[in-house]
Amino acid sequence: MAVVDIKSPKEIEAMRVSCLMAAETLTLVGEHIRAGMTTDDINTFVHDDTLKRGAYPSPLNYKGFPKSVCTSVNDIVCHGIPGAQVLKDGDIVNVDVTTFFGGFHGDTSATFYIGRPTPETRHVTEVARKALEIGIAEVREGARLGDIGAAIQEYAEAEGCSVVRDFVGHGIGRKFHEPPQVKHYGKRGQGERLKAGMIFTIEPMVNLGSFEVRVDPKDKWTVYTVDGSLSAQFEHTILVTRTGVEVLTKRPRPLRASENVATIFV
Ligand code: MF3
Ligand code: CO
Ligand code: CO
Repeated sequence: MAVVDIKSPKEIEAMRVSCLMAAETLTLVGEHIRAGMTTDDINTFVHDDTLKRGAYPSPLNYKGFPKSVCTSVNDIVCHGIPGAQVLKDGDIVNVDVTTFFGGFHGDTSATFYIGRPTPETRHVTEVARKALEIGIAEVREGARLGDIGAAIQEYAEAEGCSVVRDFVGHGIGRKFHEPPQVKHYGKRGQGERLKAGMIFTIEPMVNLGSFEVRVDPKDKWTVYTVDGSLSAQFEHTILVTRTGVEVLTKRPRPLRASENVATIFV
């Protein structure tokens, strides 16, 4: 098993800044997103907002990724490439923002409703949102990575959904992706023991149908559900502390077009 970095107090302070920037950009996305926009419009917004902060959008040119943010609509699980697709009433879109500032990355994503949720988009999105919360609630010094995965899997499957196996959460810091791999499924009591100072993401991808996914053979990035079912995802970057957890990408205010599901009619 690869060694998991323990961040120093100075590194943690720097991570708080890059993570807050990512959270602020994501919150602003929610305040701009609406039907009629293209996913490329979201890219332009995230790119410009990130540069305004004096930061760099980590996805841009990462392993050849061509854009500054991932936008994953409906049956796209993750790594959707922004383009000409127009968002329409009833769609869901995950926007995954990663900000590089002061030598450190902060990574966070949310699924937004375009216009009115349908019963299906609402179910998969609310299960993904709660799955992340349930995973975060397992985090404390001495817990195991398997405790996080098991809690997420038990909940999502009890809700009739499935959890994607082929993509996982990850350590994060000076590099976008570091050890450990954070599976969103598994068994309690297994996997690495958590220590204060570890920083990693939890980012469950929840499908309404089967957990099987495939990567677009043409663009080599876009990940789809094999059965065409809807997929939703939320992601936070978290710090393990002596007493529990600090959510480094905590939102400065509730997300429009997502956390206000009971009242949105955009
Ligand atoms: N932000 C994604 C994650 O949560 C990774 C995107 S890699 C990219 O790990 F190249 F597609 F941007
Ligand atoms: Co991530
Ligand atoms: Co991400």
